Amino acid sequence: MHRVLAEQDLAAAAPGATGLELTVVVPTFNEAPNVEELVRRLGDVLGGVEWEVVFVDDDSPDGTADLVRRLARENRRVRVLHRIGRRGLSSACIEGMLSSAAPYLAVMDADLQHDEALLPQMLRVLREDAADLVVGSRYVAEGSVAGWDERRQLISRFATRLSHLVARAPIADPMSGFFMLRRDVLHDAVHRLSAIGFKILLDIMASTPRPLRLRELPYTFRDRRAGESKLDNRAVQDFLLLLLDKAIGRYVPPRFVLFTLVGGLGTFVHLAVLTALFQGLGTSFVTGQAAATLTAMVFNFSVNNVLTYRDQQLKGRAWFTGLLSFILACSVGALANVGVAAQLFAQETNWILSAVAGVIIGAVWNYAATSFYTWRRR
Ligand code: GDD
Ligand code: MN
Repeated sequence: MHRVLAEQDLAAAAPGATGLELTVVVPTFNEAPNVEELVRRLGDVLGGVEWEVVFVDDDSPDGTADLVRRLARENRRVRVLHRIGRRGLSSACIEGMLSSAAPYLAVMDADLQHDEALLPQMLRVLREDAADLVVGSRYVAEGSVAGWDERRQLISRFATRLSHLVARAPIADPMSGFFMLRRDVLHDAVHRLSAIGFKILLDIMASTPRPLRLRELPYTFRDRRAGESKLDNRAVQDFLLLLLDKAIGRYVPPRFVLFTLVGGLGTFVHLAVLTALFQGLGTSFVTGQAAATLTAMVFNFSVNNVLTYRDQQLKGRAWFTGLLSFILACSVGALANVGVAAQLFAQETNWILSAVAGVIIGAVWNYAATSFYTWRRR
């Protein structure tokens, strides 16, 4: 007891001893060629600051996490958060920030596209309490996007427009992946974050209880130094899902909306198959209806598997067992649907209302049951 106290006194009295001030969170996926250089550059620009860097790596096949561990053994400022069976830029950033105790948190990419020289400036703004959130912005003033083709610039500009709908404060570059904030700003928003996809900044801005005081600092977005971009078509889909969640997520889960939309498409598939068999090939109605139901279920399962549950996509053997459980679950849903509708109709409820109630019960059941049995998170 006394010894512990004495040690604490020593630490407090050590010359220049100050607590951790800044954590730089760097999400990585296959960034082995870049991390060492990034750590070196952080050291260069953050002289005089008590900083650390946390690499949040999603088990990169190129061994990024191992490399970071090696760096961390030589440099106490370096940490790694190694995630298994996970993917996602936003969730990586959130978990990295939550792994830190520092009062100020920065997020930046590993590929050296973000200008680290901006970090001290960002920190100054926060220390002076001139803003809650400082963003490295590619569009304001003389900031620019070096080496982007026209298509990417166009997509980026369009996405920026859409983002303004959910961001709570005007921001020139809501898609930026380079920013710094006070810890309490994160904590105010953290329980409401969607954590979907790439747009962590937008997620935070849309999830804060009150609009943030924002400062944007311009910089030049550099070319990626090594490796390749992970931003692909999936990112576009994730982005739309994030917007959907921010717009209506408080009322209905966006996955449910997607699931229902897919179900709606399935109805058309059903009708098409039924028409082809019953009208075209002259099968009996019951045969046609049964075949159409089965086809629609396979269709719904496949589309939900690549769209609604893309992040938990079933493959190989799991695809078949998933299909089976989906068919089972939806059959029960169909029974519930008909049961409820029949019950209401028997009580002399309007027939359309009875049918709609049945459909809603069936859809909710199907969604709940398949999210539990078919795409259960492991
Ligand atoms: N942990 C983890 N998990 N990290 C990831 C993942 C993932 O699933 N996907 C990408 N990263 C890491 C990359 O290794 C890199 O350090 C950073 O996240 C950004 O990924 P890039 O692949 O370099 O993205 P980009 O350069 O195309 O996109 C940048 O610009 C966008 C604006 O257009 C990023 O800054 C985006 O955040 C930004 O929205
Ligand atoms: Mn990049």
